[in-house]
Amino acid sequence: MRKVDLTFIGHATWLIQGSKNVLIDPFITSNPQAQEAGITLESLLDKVDLVVITHGHFDHIENALDFGKLGIPVVGLFEVAQYLSAQGAKNTVGCNIGGWFEVEGVKMVFTPAVHSSSLIKDNGEPIYLGNPAGVVIELDGVRVYHTGDTALFGDMKLIGELYKPDVMLTPIGSLFTMGIPEAVKAVELVKPKIAIPMHYNTWPPIAQNPEEFKEAVKAAGLPTEVVIVKPGQTVEIVAS
Ligand code: NI
Ligand code: MN
Repeated sequence: MRKVDLTFIGHATWLIQGSKNVLIDPFITSNPQAQEAGITLESLLDKVDLVVITHGHFDHIENALDFGKLGIPVVGLFEVAQYLSAQGAKNTVGCNIGGWFEVEGVKMVFTPAVHSSSLIKDNGEPIYLGNPAGVVIELDGVRVYHTGDTALFGDMKLIGELYKPDVMLTPIGSLFTMGIPEAVKAVELVKPKIAIPMHYNTWPPIAQNPEEFKEAVKAAGLPTEVVIVKPGQTVEIVAS
């Protein structure tokens, strides 16, 4: 059976484990949800074959260099990859939004996201880190669409049609990303088999009830199954 194990590290950080282990948006050390789940950076350092970054915000790249300095490949948009390389990551792959490519036997395609991408220096000045993105990763026949931080946009329909994700990891926290009504519409556009909410309840300003999202998807008559995954929890995703 072709399948992967998907573990929620908390916030927007996910570990996909199959024939390769892929970590998306490594935010661990200061991630309250990872802390609460008892997940440490050390426990992940020797487990990960590949790190994938959606955009340059702190809550998505905090620990990228910890992996990068060990020589673990780090994939991200060109500006993010250049930045991490200059900071000491040994093996970065810079790419852009566009088409499929393969790193370490893992296929992926970066997709648009409506958001921003920068790191803020101590003096408040932003370091520009290119465009924000989402990513579809195909591992062992399973397609995982991590939307990145994003607002709702109509071209999600194209992402659904072209890439047919088995699972969609979607923010619902509002304030920085889609809230629940927007995420329900996003699910309608993408039509994944499974949708899993993320980027909520990390801090009080993005508090949301994921059950409301689940109920709203059901009330909209969508065939997608919403699965609520707690930080530290693993779910098995089977290929179509
Ligand atoms: Ni962000
Ligand atoms: Mn974020």
